[in-house]
Amino acid sequence: MSTPSEQSVRVFADPEALAEGAAVEVRRAAREAMEERGVCSLVLAGGSTPRRLYRKLAEEPCRSEIDWSAIRVFFGDERSVPPDDPASNYAMARATLLSRVPIEERNVHRIAGELKPGRAAIRYEEELRRATGAELPRFDLVVLGMGTDGHTASLFPGTPKLLDEERLAIATVSPCPPRDRVTLTLRALNAARGVMFLVQGAEKSHVLGEVLAAGAADPASRLPAASVRPKDGELLWLVDRAAAPASWDCRTASDSL
Ligand code: 6PG
Repeated sequence: MSTPSEQSVRVFADPEALAEGAAVEVRRAAREAMEERGVCSLVLAGGSTPRRLYRKLAEEPCRSEIDWSAIRVFFGDERSVPPDDPASNYAMARATLLSRVPIEERNVHRIAGELKPGRAAIRYEEELRRATGAELPRFDLVVLGMGTDGHTASLFPGTPKLLDEERLAIATVSPCPPRDRVTLTLRALNAARGVMFLVQGAEKSHVLGEVLAAGAADPASRLPAASVRPKDGELLWLVDRAAAPASWDCRTASDSL
């Protein structure tokens, strides 16, 4: 299997280089959004991979380069736990980024993990529409991770309503604890101007190869990450060399710099 088209997949030597490359993309998206619309909607991912990126965004030069007053932060998904719970994606983003940059609380739109997931999904959907003024928001940049089963956000293989054409956010159940989740739907993700996957580690190499080889006809429920294809937006995969399938003829992005 040849390496997918260069412009969509970038391979970095290690997690540190990947985080640096991701920070470049966040800065670019923020700059372009602010030039064109005066505001940038940034959707944060949970899990462990984005932590390094979030710390970089909170440090110089990113901290000063980004006009945080124009950034509107949203979340791709959340676990149904209180916002100060160690398992909370909001808590992780707050600790690594949001508490360390001059962003106003009212511009951070978390998912209410303390509520029952169905209620939290409806509440989040209402807030998304109110905060963006759009029935179907077009996020400027969505940061996503991917699990070894091909899930992304909290869209897991077999998730009902994965392809819901009305909802922006739904309640789902994870095979791993915390089980109750709230997640953006594929409809919301695929309306974005840009989606950036961050994938690292050898344990993801096999599924990454499957996801990037999956065709548009592949059932979304089998590999949800493969169904993230922005209808009118950019899709970027930033991966480290350990996650790159062995069959790829990999020059790393840093090689090409
Ligand atoms: C979550 C994330 C989830 C995550 C993947 C990858 O709530 O955990 O939204 O989709 O991005 O599971 O997680 P790692 O980055 O920890 O491998």
